[in-house]
Amino acid sequence: MKAVIIYGGPRENGNTKILTDSFIKGLLDAKCSIDFIDVTKLKVNPCIGCLKCEKDGECFIKDDMKFIYDIVEKSDIVILSSPVYFASVTSQLKALIDRFQSFYSKKYILKNQNIKKRKGYLIFTAGGKNEKMVESIGLTAKFFMLSINASLNDIIYALGTDEIKVSDREEILKTAYYKGYDAGRG
Ligand SMILES: Cc1cc2nc3c(=O)[nH]c(=O)nc-3n(C[C@H](O)[C@H](O)[C@H](O)COP(=O)(O)O)c2cc1C
Repeated sequence: MKAVIIYGGPRENGNTKILTDSFIKGLLDAKCSIDFIDVTKLKVNPCIGCLKCEKDGECFIKDDMKFIYDIVEKSDIVILSSPVYFASVTSQLKALIDRFQSFYSKKYILKNQNIKKRKGYLIFTAGGKNEKMVESIGLTAKFFMLSINASLNDIIYALGTDEIKVSDREEILKTAYYKGYDAGRG
């Protein structure tokens, strides 16, 4: 099994990275191979809505998306990971998601039948305790997953990080590990 983690958190070793690392440890212990894409370190331009991809399924913008498309194409498991910013993913990650319009076009406009079926996961952390965050960031993740022919299998999250950091949440870290392990075993 091949997994790709698409990570959009700009803070080094923040709550989201720590939670994601537990899930990754589970994947690795299940002998799953992983690619880690830190979107904040890459050049990903925003989609300009030209809709050229509706004609041939390809994005014409030349930047780091080229190798990201290749990795996602080969993956069996795709994990989106982000801190919640204004009830959604970070803007760096949103730019990457929008560039998957080319995958959307291949599937829904060009009706390509040969797209591999994948499993999808969302990992996020939020400072507040509002459960609505699960719904709002989850909806963005769900539509992204549909475009890459993945189902959103599970959402692993920690709310209330303003009060208790993820590094102090043993239970949540353990749950993330076991969910990663199960995901990696297929
Ligand atoms: C720009 C910005 C917007 C945020 N928006 C929200 C929000 O809408 N809801 C929420 O609960 N927390 C919000 N937060 C808090 C973060 O989601 C929270 O601190 C998160 O755990 C940070 O993860 P990190 O430690 O990996 O950076 C926001 C933080 C920032 C910097």
